[in-house]
Amino acid sequence: MLDKEAVESTRKAGEIVRKVKSEAKDWIKQGILLIEIAEKIEEHIVKLGGKPAFPVNLGINEYAAHYTPNHEDKTIAYGLLKVDFGVHVKGYVADNAFSLNLDKSEKNKKLIEASELALAEAIESIKRGETLGEIGSAIQTTASDTGFSAIQNLSGHSIEQWELHSGLTIPNYNNNSSIVLEEGIYAIEPFITTGEGKVYDGKPSGIYQLKKSGGIRDANAREILKYISEEYNTLPFCSRWLVKKFGRRALISLSFLESAGILHQFTQLVEKSKAPVAQSEATIIILGEDVEVVT
Ligand code: CO
Repeated sequence: MLDKEAVESTRKAGEIVRKVKSEAKDWIKQGILLIEIAEKIEEHIVKLGGKPAFPVNLGINEYAAHYTPNHEDKTIAYGLLKVDFGVHVKGYVADNAFSLNLDKSEKNKKLIEASELALAEAIESIKRGETLGEIGSAIQTTASDTGFSAIQNLSGHSIEQWELHSGLTIPNYNNNSSIVLEEGIYAIEPFITTGEGKVYDGKPSGIYQLKKSGGIRDANAREILKYISEEYNTLPFCSRWLVKKFGRRALISLSFLESAGILHQFTQLVEKSKAPVAQSEATIIILGEDVEVVT
């Protein structure tokens, strides 16, 4: 069951997402540094009264997820760019993603359209009260009808306060689950590709999450850990943010905290056949009989 604070905070976060997204679609262009894109989006979120729920993910082509620029990243935007960002208000998250066809390729245009259609079909399936298997099937069928594949080992997720992925998985294929979504907050996120439809773990991403509380002897690391738990709680954050706040000494502290098992670092997720991936994502609130798209 959802309380009033959860619903209102998620709606407010969703409103900020919509504003940031509609502007970002206009100003993101081929050739801009990814770091500029990430920072501009993150600053816009704060200006509108929210906080980034996680670092802006900017995956180019086969990079499906978990690519955020590091503090000295020189990568520029090109190709099929996925912009996945979230806003939180009091720990309640509105998560979303869209894809841009920066080099105006016909194939990428079709991929992006397929991911948008798959998202719309999944939401319709949820509105009909269908099972997780049927929702996944709606996504998978849309992908295959357009000649593409949905990525099977990436999925949507339930969301709770301070928990971006709170346990329930919403599949991008028919996993035969007969579970029907209950009242709650969910992100639906089909990833569509011309490739095989699987991602593998690439390099470390510089995106971290607090895993457990724990003591650490090093004074620098202790200071940074305190900041992390106060500022991000259990939501993901990145090395770029901490270098901005503490300078380069943050990097060694992050590696101490990771080795001590206090932080988890995510890996970049890359499509197995190195084929381009399009992503569309929205957050919904299921409240009684209603399905409300908030982003
Ligand atoms: Co998500």
